[in-house]
Amino acid sequence: MTAGRAAVVCGIGAALPPDVVPNADLTARLDTTDEWIRSRTGIAQRHVAGPDLSTTDLAAQAAADALATGEPATAQALVVATTTPDRCCPATAPAVATRLGLTGIPAHDLAAGCTGFLYALATAAGLIAADTARTVLVVGVDRLATLPDPADRTTVPLFGDGAAAVLLRRGSTDEAGALGPIVLGSDGTGAELIRADRPGALHMDGADVFRQAVDRMSTASRQAATAAGWDLADVDRLAPHQANSRITAFVARQLGVAADRQLGNIAETGNTGAASIPLLLARSAADGRLHPGHRTLLTAFGAGLTWGATTLTWPDLCPVRLPEGTAHDR
Ligand code: COA
Repeated sequence: MTAGRAAVVCGIGAALPPDVVPNADLTARLDTTDEWIRSRTGIAQRHVAGPDLSTTDLAAQAAADALATGEPATAQALVVATTTPDRCCPATAPAVATRLGLTGIPAHDLAAGCTGFLYALATAAGLIAADTARTVLVVGVDRLATLPDPADRTTVPLFGDGAAAVLLRRGSTDEAGALGPIVLGSDGTGAELIRADRPGALHMDGADVFRQAVDRMSTASRQAATAAGWDLADVDRLAPHQANSRITAFVARQLGVAADRQLGNIAETGNTGAASIPLLLARSAADGRLHPGHRTLLTAFGAGLTWGATTLTWPDLCPVRLPEGTAHDR
């Protein structure tokens, strides 16, 4: 990417459904315990959208917040990453753009499982490099709580709903907030490991997914750091997709990233799919664990199979307005 055509993060926003489902609510109807869920996944609660809160609603809330904190506070294109759109057709993004008063801009969805946010960052960086837009909103949104069979104790506890968004603007590679090279990959031979033919019919081979997630995120992280010219010892903050705190602990160990440099919010949200990384960034920036100047490594793994990683030095953004109900013990 040439200087002057880099994609630079200049705003961030988040949206979580107000309804919180603590582990105790699940133990009342499933053969599980709070202790099992916390110790095997790190999850204490998740936010779940009721029937009156759609994927489009959550995406529009997060995108509006990102625009409000953005400098400039406008977008010339919109990309929505989601595996759980409200409808098969049309896509979510044009409706979100219209709700933001941006009817007419290029707007499309992409699906890449829990790696969707990183794929969308790459797409946005491409739109900027191609001179299609100077500012691009990227939204990660999912309602993954709709996917498991409500009677399946092995998957219900893992997932939650949410959205988060970043605003990117055209800038220079040496600015804080500039995205480094974005590493992406996929492997369709693993398509059956995480699949949902319809809502309520999620199938997951948890143990195999666990192993592959650790391997793929560790490898992609090393590749992204190398491509950015970073030594892993230079990484101030690791921001991994939040699927299981044991997965992220293994990834951090493989990369040699100490516990005090790992970001995590899975206790309060569960796995929110494409929203996971931007929600984590918004949360961490708001509570002071992520500061301007921190060299930050993002990595994700998800259904497809898909994976990816990238780097950025965290920029000095307007204060993030956190959704209500996120102040849970971690
Ligand atoms: N409560 C109590 N017991 C449970 C349980 C629950 N909620 N869920 C599973 N168990 C049981 C299993 O039935 C199994 O019992 P068994 O030994 O009698 O057969 C036992 O716990 C161990 O199951 P296992 O699947 O080996 O547990 P695990 O330690 O691998 O943890 C996951 C299961 C799903 C939490 C873990 O594999 C995981 O997180 N995988 C990755 C998921 C993921 O990242 N998905 C999205 C990718 S983006």
